[in-house]
Amino acid sequence: MSKSTIQSIRAFEILDSRGRPTLEAHLTLSSGLTAAAQVPSGASTGLSEAHELRDADPARYRGLGVLRAVHNVNAEINAALAGLDPLDQTLIDQTLISLDGTPNKSRLGANAILSASCATARAASLLTGQPLWRYLAGARPAVLPLPMVNILSGGLHAAHAMEFQDFLAIPHAAPSFAEAMRWINSIHHSARLLLEAAGAYFTGVADEGGWGPKLPTNEAALSLLTRAIEHAGLQPGAQVSIALDVASSHFFRDGLYHLQSESRSLTAPEFISLLDHWCRNYPVVSIEDGLDQSAWSDWPALTARLGAQAQIIGDDFLTTNPQRLSRAIAESSANAVLVKMNQIGTLTETFAVIDQARAAGWRAVISARSGETEDSFLTDLAIASGMAQLKVGSITRSERLAKYNRALILEQTASLPHWSAAPALLPPTRPR
Ligand code: PGA
Ligand code: ZN
Repeated sequence: MSKSTIQSIRAFEILDSRGRPTLEAHLTLSSGLTAAAQVPSGASTGLSEAHELRDADPARYRGLGVLRAVHNVNAEINAALAGLDPLDQTLIDQTLISLDGTPNKSRLGANAILSASCATARAASLLTGQPLWRYLAGARPAVLPLPMVNILSGGLHAAHAMEFQDFLAIPHAAPSFAEAMRWINSIHHSARLLLEAAGAYFTGVADEGGWGPKLPTNEAALSLLTRAIEHAGLQPGAQVSIALDVASSHFFRDGLYHLQSESRSLTAPEFISLLDHWCRNYPVVSIEDGLDQSAWSDWPALTARLGAQAQIIGDDFLTTNPQRLSRAIAESSANAVLVKMNQIGTLTETFAVIDQARAAGWRAVISARSGETEDSFLTDLAIASGMAQLKVGSITRSERLAKYNRALILEQTASLPHWSAAPALLPPTRPR
């Protein structure tokens, strides 16, 4: 038991990067020390995610207010955490889980619970005089992560023709995080020039800060991103690869994957063949949510077919959920898990998923949400996880830059091992 205990926690309604309400919590220790944490929010959410509590009062923020969640922090959570040891994160999170009492944190809200969980960890790091990443890492080997960076957005994050949600660049051969960011800046700029030349440039940015272009098809976006890598003077495949977040649950209906932009509707085997075809023709080494979130019987076929050449990630499919991950590991449904803290709602459960993935020889990508805040907690979590991969969105909009800039500073001040020290945790590379 440390000398300092939790004195109080107080939450506030603030706004996320889409201008929608979310929470910031301030946790105060008996020593007087205070720490804050902010909570993100998704748009293309999975069915099995923990419950994000919103007010459902149409008179405020079209029902999206979080005053009930704020009240839950200030009343019940405040009372339950008072007097507890901030260094015992497991106890804190178990207390929050039991207090809520539901399987999906729907009573108090996963947003309320996560704000308390993260604020406690940050207070504990301050109390112990450690940077957050070191406190979170504990015995795990901290690693500076390889970023996968959104360049083009479609799907629910951009609302134009392309159904796929994210076309991302993975600068795997960059010798440093700083150099990775410089490469990405060149690719991002080249993508704009190519979009302008194609008459497909769309002013403004998509939800995660990338371009939300009016390209006719998903393949046109793949082709443009590959050309943007070349245009930036980099070698597709050898230096920079491509990741896709297909987010396919959002265009899956009645057993078919509806690619309206390509004027076709495909069965799961046909869709897997299409993804395979694109992996052969473009330097794609990572595919997220390539199949519907409930298609348990189809995922093993996707992984068997493409798992050696590509990282097969479950996001909406696994929802950072230990039970879903256990089943997916047992059934060889994928080989990587996307980790989003607010899909599950506490830090302890988030680390359980990370450790479960590591023990199974899976990869993990620590990810932001499309609705983010200026909190950089995620970068520390990614470093602490030791899983060597980070997904934050694009390189515009400061809720994204807060995370990248934290990594840029830590690279120069914390002497962390570079991601290349953990090759087994990275996506495969396929030099062409
Ligand atoms: P979301 O999108 O935060 O809107 O769910 C991010 C992702 O799908 O990876
Ligand atoms: Zn996703």
